[in-house]
Amino acid sequence: MPVPIIIDCDPGHDDALAILLAAGDPAVDLLAITTVAGNQTLRKTTLNARRVCTVAGITGVPIAAGCAKPLVEPLRVAEDVHGASGMDGPGFPEPRVDVVPEHAVELIHRILREHPEPVTLVPTAPLTNIALLLTRYPEVAGRIREIVLMGGSTERGNRTPAAEFNVHVDPEAADIVFRSGVPVTMCGLNVTHQALATPEVLARLEGLGTELGRICVELLTYFAGTYRRLWGFPHPPVHDPVAVARVIDPQLVHCVDASVAVELRGEFTRGATVVDPHRYLDRPVNAKVAVGLEVEAFWDRLVAAVAALGGPARTAEDAGDPGAREA
Ligand code: RIB
Ligand code: CA
Repeated sequence: MPVPIIIDCDPGHDDALAILLAAGDPAVDLLAITTVAGNQTLRKTTLNARRVCTVAGITGVPIAAGCAKPLVEPLRVAEDVHGASGMDGPGFPEPRVDVVPEHAVELIHRILREHPEPVTLVPTAPLTNIALLLTRYPEVAGRIREIVLMGGSTERGNRTPAAEFNVHVDPEAADIVFRSGVPVTMCGLNVTHQALATPEVLARLEGLGTELGRICVELLTYFAGTYRRLWGFPHPPVHDPVAVARVIDPQLVHCVDASVAVELRGEFTRGATVVDPHRYLDRPVNAKVAVGLEVEAFWDRLVAAVAALGGPARTAEDAGDPGAREA
């Protein structure tokens, strides 16, 4: 039986791939997509979620916009990483998928109440919406199967030396989630940096011969430029789909039990996730922490999901084949 999930995201190049993996893989049932401010403003991340659903032909999955700013911090977007639109690179048609009028927190709350079985939440963004849900509706925690999030790191950060972006944008929200008592699995940078979109991966996506495959290649090509310029990475890591992969098949993402604390007061370390698998701090275990990725199988699932979503085959003319025009 497919696992029912809700993705809470801030598209975002890698969020887009997480949505495609969730929508295209039969092991999960994507019940809803909710958006939050993070990589870009809420208006832009929500427009991008609508764009992804439009080009992927994802219909019948409600999209709801959530919080426009973190709980305490001012919003600091990642325009240097994802561009002015939040998903620079491809051109997108006008979205044909709209948002529902409910706030993201209300939509998640309603689904959790109404769905016949507990639902897995997959946040791939700052945790503002999820923290607000748990604070406003604490009784709903029992209807959450688990929270499998992309965020944090067992090692260094990518927004400060200590803090990963999603946690750094809203450390208070992350602290609420890790203290909530809800089963949490953390997929941090230490594991998502293993999910590198190499030229071989791009060739597989291009080889699908579909518009959606081409859009994925253009997203990843833009992302590659960012990661080369900012961090000297030869290939871009796609962070967010790793959290979805963990739900699809836990064997894809190896985890250890650990206590995770979110640093809120450190002058240089605010937003750091302090992961303690060796129990130095004698704090209770409150999370599964991802440490390893079955890289080849991960990419097999992601490429298969994009293939399954299909989309119109690209004509030779689309591909810029000069001979096509004479035909
Ligand atoms: O640090 C990586 C995370 O920050 C990813 O979710 C990416 O989309 C950005 O939101
Ligand atoms: Ca994200």
